[in-house]
Amino acid sequence: MARVLTVDARAPDAGIIAEAVRVLRGGGLVAMPTETVYGLAARALDEGAVARVYAAKGRPGHHPLIAHVEGEAQARALAASWSERASLVAKAFWPGPLTIVVDRAHDVPAAVAGGGPSIAIRAPAHPVALALLRALDEPVAAPSANRFQGLSPTTADHVVKQLGDAVDLVLDAGPCEAGIESTVVDLRPARPRVLRPGALDLAALRRVLPDVEAPTEIVRGAEARPSPGMEARHYAPRARLLLADTWEEARRIAYGLASTGARVGLVTHEKRTTSVPEKQVIARSLPQEPAQYARLLYRTLHDLDDAGVDVIVVQGVPDDEAWWAVADRLRRGSTE
Ligand code: TXA
Ligand code: MG
Repeated sequence: MARVLTVDARAPDAGIIAEAVRVLRGGGLVAMPTETVYGLAARALDEGAVARVYAAKGRPGHHPLIAHVEGEAQARALAASWSERASLVAKAFWPGPLTIVVDRAHDVPAAVAGGGPSIAIRAPAHPVALALLRALDEPVAAPSANRFQGLSPTTADHVVKQLGDAVDLVLDAGPCEAGIESTVVDLRPARPRVLRPGALDLAALRRVLPDVEAPTEIVRGAEARPSPGMEARHYAPRARLLLADTWEEARRIAYGLASTGARVGLVTHEKRTTSVPEKQVIARSLPQEPAQYARLLYRTLHDLDDAGVDVIVVQGVPDDEAWWAVADRLRRGSTE
């Protein structure tokens, strides 16, 4: 079993952080909490450690990782050049759930970036991640701490369940605040472009980057592959995930499947009372506000997986920009 150390999310114990630094300096892997999801950290400039990250996740080597930094100064050292725009967004949103893609500096190993010419960078806001980065005094590569194409972990238990012995140390600081991954924006084109909708909402991003392009096909079209490593099937639970248009349809499908003997989970986000006995399916009602919903989504899917359901039927979410990150993950996690 992986070694798990409990750490205070607000006031991380210096001894525990020092132990995590020791593991990282030895080329090891540390699962750390961030404000979005748990990340699997390794020294970004250590090619051997980065290779271990890919192996632990079962992730193909051409899928780039996000370099996590303490702040803008460390980010600059990873970039070939640092635009005014990069400075602007870093000052506005870091530390926080925004990842920027810039040209990679030549002395940064290509392995971190999946062999490509660019690099994705973010400064996480979680006190434990920040304490670790400060104590280590160099960037870490940290993809979400799950197996390739699996559900991102929002608790330490989710990490242990998926990665087991492949991770040397897990820092358990409780559930993640945002519960969904960071927003990824490519700053290289003339018009910055959202590659992955995420925890930083687009309205906030637009206030600083008014011309940012957030292609609707990221959410709606199966064709678009704007970001390396964004396969259609990604962020998927073990159970089959079916998306229904409405609350009524979700219930109809769920109870229909249950009547054939399937073990079914049902995830809705409308508070309604019904006369149908809930015991035939495991029903979960999520909040109606998108950020609150996002915080609980992966956790709910992990719980239903753990309960051993065969199918999870999810009520579709509103076709509204505030819901894009959630809609994107549901679409990628779904079977059809
Ligand atoms: O919230 C997050 O971003 C979490 C926490 C741990 O920080 N990390 C995370 O990393 O979600 P990962 O590796 O699971 O997802 C990285 C995303 C992928 O969608 C990948 O395609 C994109 O970032 N990405 C990374 N490097 C890129 C690059 N150089 N160019 C374009 N997209 C890139
Ligand atoms: Mg991931």
